[in-house]
Amino acid sequence: MRTIIFGTAEIRKAAKIIRDGGLVAFPTETVYGLGANALDERATKKIFEAKGRPSDNPLIIHIASKRQLHKIARIPENRKEIVRVLINKFWPGPLTLILPKRKTVPKTVTGGLNTVAVRMPKNKIALELIKKAGVPIAAPSANISGKPSGTCFEHVLEDFDGKIDGIIKSRSCKIGVESTVLDLTSRVPTILRPGGVNYEELKRAIPKLKVAKGRGGKIKSPGMKYRHYSPNAKVILFEKNSKLENYKLGLEKKGKRVIVIYPESSLRFSRRLFKVFRECDKKKIDYILIPAIEKKGIGLAIMNRIEKAAASVVR
Ligand code: TXA
Ligand code: MG
Repeated sequence: MRTIIFGTAEIRKAAKIIRDGGLVAFPTETVYGLGANALDERATKKIFEAKGRPSDNPLIIHIASKRQLHKIARIPENRKEIVRVLINKFWPGPLTLILPKRKTVPKTVTGGLNTVAVRMPKNKIALELIKKAGVPIAAPSANISGKPSGTCFEHVLEDFDGKIDGIIKSRSCKIGVESTVLDLTSRVPTILRPGGVNYEELKRAIPKLKVAKGRGGKIKSPGMKYRHYSPNAKVILFEKNSKLENYKLGLEKKGKRVIVIYPESSLRFSRRLFKVFRECDKKKIDYILIPAIEKKGIGLAIMNRIEKAAASVVR
């Protein structure tokens, strides 16, 4: 298959491909998405094939207007106020809501669940693509399953050249980590995946708020059980900075190629994280050592991605 590269002035053509049941990767404010018509079961199946994604890991549906939400999801009476508050404050933006699904949404998209994930991205190109396609767009992050999410055109091309119909070539994504996934079907609204909208901001809007534990208990988000974001290099997370230097020397004595990444709780860092992972693979790095940072602000999402990428943790 030849993958067509679209400029940002060619969104109409890309939208036609989506409408006709094809796959197009497109930029959002978080990471690139691999999109298909969310209401077309056959089209959405192709997403799972192209990514090598397990079929029980559901997709996020992207919409271009708040009105479109009601065509996809049902909003229970006791959630109407919360949904109103959240979408007024955070949409368009990196907040994904989990709600009961409507029948129009094929089961392939939701991995067999009767809930659906929806968000309205804060990116002009993404919004224009959805509008011109005239349908909501189901899109996971644009990366081969298990690999770091694609946050720039080059990395999406690397993973999908020859495997999908098109890619919209645009700038690197601003936030660089994915959206916050918030479950509104549980008794207390629960963050299933920390992301672009911070816990602190959400808590201010809806004081009753929980964060799901990654391990143990019933897994609410199928995505939580899979290893993610992994570069080829072994990522090792250090809870205490003091142990890092000796560990590094030990590896270097064995002739390993080692780099240390010092994270910070900022967008400047989050937007580079997955890129750095991929650059390490090109440089054939064996080990990436990372000291932990406080799980505050965007630091919570950054630490979540590092923990998921990590082969081990030194305590
Ligand atoms: O920022 C983002 O969210 C990006 C851009 C492209 O929008 N998308 C993204 O999609 O990160 P993906 O597929 O890589 O991650 C979606 C996450 C997964 O962890 C999945 O398990 C969860 O959302 N999810 C989707 N539908 C769900 C549902 N009905 N219930 C619980 N979790 C759900
Ligand atoms: Mg992903």
